[in-house]
Amino acid sequence: MHKATLIRGDGIGPEITEAALMAIEAAGVKINWEEVRAGEGALEELGTPLPSEVIESINKTGVALKGPLTTPIGSGFRSINVALRKELDLYANLRPSKTFPGIRSLFTDIDLVVVRENTEDLYAGIEHMVGEDAAESIKIITRRASERIVRFAFDYTLSAKRKKVTAVHKANIMKLSDGLFLETARKVAEEYPQVEFEDRIVDNMAMQLVQKPWQYDVMVMPNLYGDILSDLCAGLVGGLGLVPGANIGDHAALFEPVHGSAPKYAGQNRANPAAMIMAAVLMLGYIGEKDAAGKIERALANLIREGKKVTADLGGKTGTREMAEALAELIKQE
Ligand code: NAI
Repeated sequence: MHKATLIRGDGIGPEITEAALMAIEAAGVKINWEEVRAGEGALEELGTPLPSEVIESINKTGVALKGPLTTPIGSGFRSINVALRKELDLYANLRPSKTFPGIRSLFTDIDLVVVRENTEDLYAGIEHMVGEDAAESIKIITRRASERIVRFAFDYTLSAKRKKVTAVHKANIMKLSDGLFLETARKVAEEYPQVEFEDRIVDNMAMQLVQKPWQYDVMVMPNLYGDILSDLCAGLVGGLGLVPGANIGDHAALFEPVHGSAPKYAGQNRANPAAMIMAAVLMLGYIGEKDAAGKIERALANLIREGKKVTADLGGKTGTREMAEALAELIKQE
């Protein structure tokens, strides 16, 4: 039996988490969940949006499934999600974007993975005013963080039986910081002769991704470019309601949908659970339950292709709960 931490989250979190749990159960995977509270709900009930039990539990189980969290205004945290990534040193953000047949989108057959460095770059949060009329943000790129994220991208490429890694940068302008990232990427690439390697300048990459997205496979990049291009890739496959994200470190991993807590839909049985279910699929793959992950992914693709028992944003008329029930039935037939 697996052990994992569960954070149901705020807003639509509890409803979409329930849908993901139903899918996991239908696929026959037994997980002993350790449930903890975080976010707005935790602030109201426990007085802090990130109680120490959350970190303790994830450190213990090594893996967590998390619904979206509302970041309470004025709590002292810029974002609970950022705090979680920092505390657990979840340095790799993995964002796969894959077309579900049947989704209305400009593109078909997209299958891209962004590997985003999660700890430094302009997100280190080192900013200050220079006098009253200028502000400075410091972009930090280190050899250590670059090396481990690029190595993560290559190891992932091998284990996912993918073919190519593209390093994305702006080393032509930021010769020292992005230059260090690119130099490090090239060096690490030499250790993986079986994987094709290339690099692209980020602006060119943005254009190429909307013109010829099929040319790319796994892309690895510093934090800011990863933030932007991973959303671009989500847009290529029909939006944030469908794509999951994983935050992975050497000792723990946290799986979540990419979208937020959508407070206006909370408790209305209207939220699309697909991204949360895909987060569970990623998690199952990570804990070695690849067959179950495949079953859920295929069943969800079939449900979406059929287009009837899905939520309104996917073109259907079904509630979150009913979509989850229909999916569970399909999973059992896989
Ligand atoms: P959001 O992703 O919650 O909502 C953006 C738009 O998409 C809204 O119109 C929303 O109703 C819709 N939407 C999102 N998920 C949906 C779903 N599953 N089904 C149907 N419609 C969906 O982003 P927003 O409004 O900027 O943020 C709301 C809260 O979520 C904020 O407190 C923010 O801090 C938090 N947030 C949390 C994240 C996380 O926990 N990883 C990520 C992004 C935002």
